[in-house]
Amino acid sequence: MGSDVAAGFSCKPETGDPEKPILFAAAQIFICAGERCRSCHPGDLAGSVRELVKAMGCDNGDDRIKVTRTGCNGACRYRAFAYAYQNGNAKSYSRATSFSAWKRVHEWTDEQWKELISSLREGRVSEALREFRVEDKVYY
Ligand code: FES
Repeated sequence: MGSDVAAGFSCKPETGDPEKPILFAAAQIFICAGERCRSCHPGDLAGSVRELVKAMGCDNGDDRIKVTRTGCNGACRYRAFAYAYQNGNAKSYSRATSFSAWKRVHEWTDEQWKELISSLREGRVSEALREFRVEDKVYY
């Protein structure tokens, strides 16, 4: 995300940033950029969401939210598809929001993305996004 890359690598930062350890995040949002989902949002949706995360000040520190672009997740029927995991060690972690899957995210406004980001940081289930949530089952 804008860092200089070490020689011989495609994404290893040349200089590590302690505020952005590469594998740490309080939550991570995965946005599908597979062919079928991309046909719904030909632009760079993950890049746009990263900009929102940054504008909200959620790109640094202990409550960092990370956004990752993925290939096909085998869930094309929900296009455009996205999902999120919370870090089990995050202070906002809750079992109810540890995983969430989302459909038709290409229809989302910036406000709806901000709602997802806020709800992940606060560890709450978003009622405002309920119509887009893909039903999931938690196995105990
Ligand atoms: S292309 Fe997105 S789930 Fe298949």
